[in-house]
Amino acid sequence: MCEISSAEGRIKRGVEGSRGVEARMYDKIKIIAGIIIFLIIMLTPFWYNSLTGKAAYVPQLKIGTDARQCVENTSYMKSNHMDLLNKWKESVVREGMRVHKTRDGKLYVISLTGTCLNCHSSKAQFCDRCHDYAGAKPQCWDCHIVPNNAVSSRQEE
Ligand code: HEC
Ligand code: HEC
Ligand code: HEC
Repeated sequence: MCEISSAEGRIKRGVEGSRGVEARMYDKIKIIAGIIIFLIIMLTPFWYNSLTGKAAYVPQLKIGTDARQCVENTSYMKSNHMDLLNKWKESVVREGMRVHKTRDGKLYVISLTGTCLNCHSSKAQFCDRCHDYAGAKPQCWDCHIVPNNAVSSRQEE
């Protein structure tokens, strides 16, 4: 406000002065418009997401077993199951070792199809559903045969 009243003072002082003030007002409008545009752009993803519901979407996974626990804890499995599978593969192919001992001492036969897909009995509604969502395309099923139960639940889908 005091900006403006001092501006009035300067307008009275003459044309030169008033040009300077106009220029400064114009700059301010530009800055404010810039801030508004910036905010619109920054906030668009939030509006977009709340309108489309996209951010809230997580694939519905069918765990496929009554077991309460995975071979390792869930958060490890969520982010590291590929590493575990890699270790399993190495263990079998390099060391001929076909038993996995969990941190709490449980033993599992090392088998992608016989163990993972024995609990996760629908590959389609578990592995594939999450991979499709995440854009991951593991090339395992060219060689590893998906057991019948896991395939048929895909057809039922
Ligand atoms: C080119 C064929 C091929 C591909 C592709 C392939 N594997 Fe294998 N995999 C094999 C063979 C052969 C064995 C050894 C089988 C055995 O000795 O029981 C094996 C063994 C394994 C084993 C241990 C034994 C078992 O039956 O599970 C795991 C775990 C495994 N692979 C995981 C994977 C994963 C995960 C992928 C995808 C990222 C994959 N494999 C892709 C051929 C393949
Ligand atoms: C004994 C049954 C069993 C076996 C075997 C098993 N899982 Fe699981 N898995 C579960 C259960 C139960 C959960 C859900 C645990 C929970 O909700 O906390 C789970 C959760 C997961 C998750 C996390 C899912 C999510 O909610 O985000 C992944 C990924 C996973 N398992 C992959 C695998 C892979 C890969 C294998 C083979 C190496 C495997 N599981 C073997 C029972 C099993
Ligand atoms: C909760 C989501 C989720 C579930 C359920 C899940 N995966 Fe994954 N998986 C992922 C993500 C995400 C990646 C990609 C990670 C990356 O690109 O770094 C991945 C990657 C993989 C890879 C490595 C791919 C590659 O090309 O190297 C394998 C193997 C794999 N998953 C196997 C499985 C199997 C088998 C199951 C079912 C028993 C399963 N996953 C269930 C999320 C999941």
